[in-house]
Amino acid sequence: MPLYGIPLARRLGVPETDCLTIVAGESSKTRSEWARLTDLMLERGFGRDSVVVAVGGGVVGDLAGFVAATYMRGVPVIQVPTTLLAMIDASIGGKTGVDTDAGKNLVGAFHEPVLVLADLPVLRTLPPAEFRAGLAEALKHGLITSTGELDWLLANAAALARLELPALRELVRRHVAIKVRVVKRDMHEAGVRKTLNFGHTIGHAIESVSNYAMLHGECVAIGMLAEARIASAMRIAAPSLVDRVRAALDALGLPSSVPRQMASDTILAATRTDKKARAGAVEYALLADVGQIAAADSGYGTSVPDSVVVDALNASR
Ligand SMILES: NC(=O)c1ccc[n+]([C@@H]2O[C@H](COP(=O)([O-])OP(=O)(O)OC[C@H]3O[C@@H](n4cnc5c(N)ncnc54)[C@H](O)[C@@H]3O)[C@@H](O)[C@H]2O)c1
Ligand SMILES: [Zn+2]
Repeated sequence: MPLYGIPLARRLGVPETDCLTIVAGESSKTRSEWARLTDLMLERGFGRDSVVVAVGGGVVGDLAGFVAATYMRGVPVIQVPTTLLAMIDASIGGKTGVDTDAGKNLVGAFHEPVLVLADLPVLRTLPPAEFRAGLAEALKHGLITSTGELDWLLANAAALARLELPALRELVRRHVAIKVRVVKRDMHEAGVRKTLNFGHTIGHAIESVSNYAMLHGECVAIGMLAEARIASAMRIAAPSLVDRVRAALDALGLPSSVPRQMASDTILAATRTDKKARAGAVEYALLADVGQIAAADSGYGTSVPDSVVVDALNASR
């Protein structure tokens, strides 16, 4: 927010007293921050005619979006994503919310933005690790969509790493389109939207066991390889899928190994608090192949025996 939010407000003639900032990082995505922000808005006399403009990464987008969803029973939100992850993923589709001690994103609301504005040159100030974390969601989109999308991403990996604007523009254009297409078919995640959770059951578990010290995208990267292993072990996918996912992670400079100090049992236990668990059973969005999610007939969720999860995690070290 201080980097881009205040200058943006100045240029728009918005008084600085209307700008609320948070401490950077996942640790701000909490109910107490939601309470602090809504209290400040009430104190400063923000009315029903307010519009929340969320300038920042996915943390700001999710938190400010949840503030907008609930303030005076809902005011409009404009998302101005400043990370790659937020541009191609978090700012689109209306999921907002906060984390709780029990897990990530467990309290929230669907609240679609009235506008999403992504200004690509802001990515030049983004730390490289954060940029790569965004590429993990791009890889997820490629893997769940088609070989063509996956190939485009890998063919452009070098240009993207150099932050070349034409490649970035095409990346954001393609990946916004992928996310919009899925979300339009299934806003409330009753079916096809679950495919966007590929890599996330394990990914969220690792993220929460790391106490959010690891980046969301890094955890999803590791999660995608582990979940490809699970699919292969369950004979849902061919073993070659595992090699393809690993090669893609390497090409994009993404991690693929579960941190040594994290016990597989601890990660397994953490999967149970993920909101993809239904009636106690954890559901995975598994790939049958690139562009093909398993269990399309039964809502895209597959339950996996604990021993298969543990084996896949052990193999990912
Ligand atoms: N709502 C959704 O559909 C959805 C989808 C995916 C992820 N998410 C959520 O998004 C969050 C992760 O978002 P993120 O990866 O954007 O992380 P983030 O919001 O924590 O931002 C990463 C870091 O980069 C800084 N930053 C942001 N833009 C910058 C810029 N242009 N230059 C320099 N620094 C900049 C931030 O201050 C922060 O320190 C997670 O909480 C995740 O759950 C939500
Ligand atoms: Zn994600």
